[in-house]
Amino acid sequence: MPKTLIEPFRIKSVEPIRMTAREERVRLLEEAKLNVFKLRAEDVLIDWLTDSGTGAMSSRQWGAIMEGDESYAGARSFYRLEATIRKITGMLHVVPTHQGRAAEKVLFTATCKSGDIVPNNCHFDTTRANLEYLGVEAVDLVIPEGLQPSLVHPFKGDIDLARAEALLKSAGDRIPFGMLTVTNNTGGGQPVSMANIRAYSKLLKQYGKPLVLDICRFAENAMFIKMREPGYANTPVADIAAEMFSYADGATMSAKKDGMVNIGGFIVLRDDCWIDAIRNNLIMMEGFPTYGGLAGRDLEALAVGLEEGLDEDYLRYRLRTAEYLGEKLDAAGVGYVKPT
Ligand SMILES: Cc1ncc(COP(=O)(O)O)c(C=O)c1O
Repeated sequence: MPKTLIEPFRIKSVEPIRMTAREERVRLLEEAKLNVFKLRAEDVLIDWLTDSGTGAMSSRQWGAIMEGDESYAGARSFYRLEATIRKITGMLHVVPTHQGRAAEKVLFTATCKSGDIVPNNCHFDTTRANLEYLGVEAVDLVIPEGLQPSLVHPFKGDIDLARAEALLKSAGDRIPFGMLTVTNNTGGGQPVSMANIRAYSKLLKQYGKPLVLDICRFAENAMFIKMREPGYANTPVADIAAEMFSYADGATMSAKKDGMVNIGGFIVLRDDCWIDAIRNNLIMMEGFPTYGGLAGRDLEALAVGLEEGLDEDYLRYRLRTAEYLGEKLDAAGVGYVKPT
């Protein structure tokens, strides 16, 4: 990749940040007992706590917000989002929620019971919490390479297929479905290869189990496949994402990542199997099926964000920016967990 990549966008609006002094930062960090979650955001000069829901929206998203249909039932904005998600995922049912953890809660309470086991490469902390709250065992089965931060490997988010098969053999009757998180955020945001998604899906099918993807970084994962997996260099990222989805039966999404919005999430399902139970939960926990936990304007911004988040120039720029930062940290001798 080139040494640096310019941003493939213009910045139209700026929000001033307060300049802070080192002594002030040291004092505030001591007062917070080094817990950055306790700081006030206005005291933080460069905020690397998370990129979840913290980004700027595009001009097209702000334009779409004005078109938000706030009708209680059957809003135009829902059908627009539904069409977009169907096109990207090839799946039938779209269930909006206010964020990813709500999608998990609505799905798991409809499909899991105490004593069940759910395998995953690594469960994100809210995914694990939602399962464990129901008495379900959340089992992490990432490949051994994924647990070695300094090791270089193209797909450290892959699930260990041999261990997944052993679990399906020994406790298959307790497994309602298998999960796979793309990218594997709890394991350092590591990508999962297409070969691994395909093989895991096939394995689950042999045991009659559906595959549910956790897809908050599906576009980034697709871009990693394009850049690193033989045979995909000339395939459009949207087609790679479509192939990833073709192996799955459903997915949960925190739209605050590759949905490019400040709030939002959804469940998507290939067929009718769980939909009634899920919609009943949704009405209790989030809202009517055509808005879930979101306003019409949020649905509009998400529909645009999902399309724009698949832009290859943008994805290439984003990955190169992280790599560039890593190179600078290496050169300065600063230790960090390497992304690859
Ligand atoms: C892989 C993964 N799953 C689920 C979630 C939960 O999503 P949310 O924060 O929108 O509730 C996150 C959030 O960071 C995540 O990274």
